[in-house]
Amino acid sequence: MQIDVILGLQWGDEGKGKIVDFLAEEYDLVARFQGGPNAGHTLKFGGQKYVLHTVPSGIFRPNQVNLIGNGVVLDPVVFQRELRALEASGVDFYKRLLVARKAHLILPTHRWLDAASEAHKGQAKIGSTLKGIGPTYMDKTGRNGLRVGSIELPSFREQYEALKTKHLDLLKIYPPVPFDLEAEEKAWFESLDTLRRLPLVDAEYYVNDLLADNKRILAEGAQGAMLDIDFGTYPFVTSSNTMTAGVCTGLGVAPQKIGRVIGITKAYCTRVGSGPFPSELLDETGERLRQEGQEFGSTTGRPRRCGWIDLPQLRYTILLSGATELCMTKIDVLNTFAEIAAATQYRHPDGRVNTELPFDLCYSDVQPVLKKYAGWQSSLDQATQFDQLPSTARAFIEDLEQYLGIPFSMISTGPEREKLILR
Ligand code: GDP
Ligand code: IMO
Ligand code: MG
Repeated sequence: MQIDVILGLQWGDEGKGKIVDFLAEEYDLVARFQGGPNAGHTLKFGGQKYVLHTVPSGIFRPNQVNLIGNGVVLDPVVFQRELRALEASGVDFYKRLLVARKAHLILPTHRWLDAASEAHKGQAKIGSTLKGIGPTYMDKTGRNGLRVGSIELPSFREQYEALKTKHLDLLKIYPPVPFDLEAEEKAWFESLDTLRRLPLVDAEYYVNDLLADNKRILAEGAQGAMLDIDFGTYPFVTSSNTMTAGVCTGLGVAPQKIGRVIGITKAYCTRVGSGPFPSELLDETGERLRQEGQEFGSTTGRPRRCGWIDLPQLRYTILLSGATELCMTKIDVLNTFAEIAAATQYRHPDGRVNTELPFDLCYSDVQPVLKKYAGWQSSLDQATQFDQLPSTARAFIEDLEQYLGIPFSMISTGPEREKLILR
């Protein structure tokens, strides 16, 4: 069997968690392949809301196994908190939540470095979630990292101390930020006991054995394609490959094993943190999108920046991710708008108009060329099939399909699990 992929095609928070939770029943395994507790994936069902940071969004489906892949960076303290919340909700996960031994651990000093680096950058800060993501991936590629599997080794404490010492030396180059190392370290070591209760696996063998056995796997992306370390709005990005290529390195599967690639986009666009956002609306329309869409971060609570859907940007991330189909979320947020819009091109300061993303959006003052669409000004709650959507909503979706060249196979009309139109 092949491995299907769910990815965010914008700057994150596209509603990946909801869609993974919905589709999980069709799969034997749901796996995270990159990112870490910077992610916040929201699920709503049975009148309850759940936010997952490290745990894959298939965990609420009782028959599905969930895997935290080698490409993920894991903070055992955040993870323990998440597992306690799952326990309190009555979810039985100890045998069906696996962790790759090759996943890297986020140390307390990684978070400290993240905070110090951001404080040092001042106005130029990335707007990081401050979960220690960047410093942990830096240690991974710098070949200093500490991996989950090492907690089973006798040299673990020694490895930890060596890395911590390196971090304490590094911290000396930054102005001081408040941090209680002793307390943080104590909590960190205690949280490892929870990690030890879960099956730690050599995930590359596990995943490939499942595929050979014709089992179905769904890979759950975190962040979004525009936050990709290589192709996103660098340096205002996260520190991992958030696109399909990340599935191969983050789970240990070969490219030919990739099957469906479902790209998720909101019906508009948001971004949280700093960095360029060509279609951003800094006016009352942007504020209205934020209020109607409840656009406040799932991990940090920060207000998300809002704007119209950006089609050149989506074409770019469809190209790079090899998306085979699309899912549109939060279309209901536009219900009250008399008119909506999509950016179809970029206008450069010298008058040029094109549809390509410039080398560095940070230094290119492009303005979006907007195409307007009539709104529908009605609730979509009763629509369970595509042809039950108002004609103006269908026209909007069909026009985007034309422009993007691949179909919308799913339309999400609300945060709840069942509010999803399949085509
Ligand atoms: P993720 O990080 O991609 O999983 O997305 P988040 O959970 O951070 O943010 C998406 C937010 O939109 C969450 O609050 C979801 O409950 C909510 N949501 C998801 N799909 C829809 C939808 O179709 N309509 C509305 N109104 N909300 C949605
Ligand atoms: P999910 O999976 C939205 C953003 C941060 C910041 C930049 C770098 O919920 O879609 P980092 O903590 O990685 O150093 O932050 O990336 N960011 C996200 N934005 N959704 C996310 O995850 C994000 N994870 C990181 O706001 O701008
Ligand atoms: Mg999120």
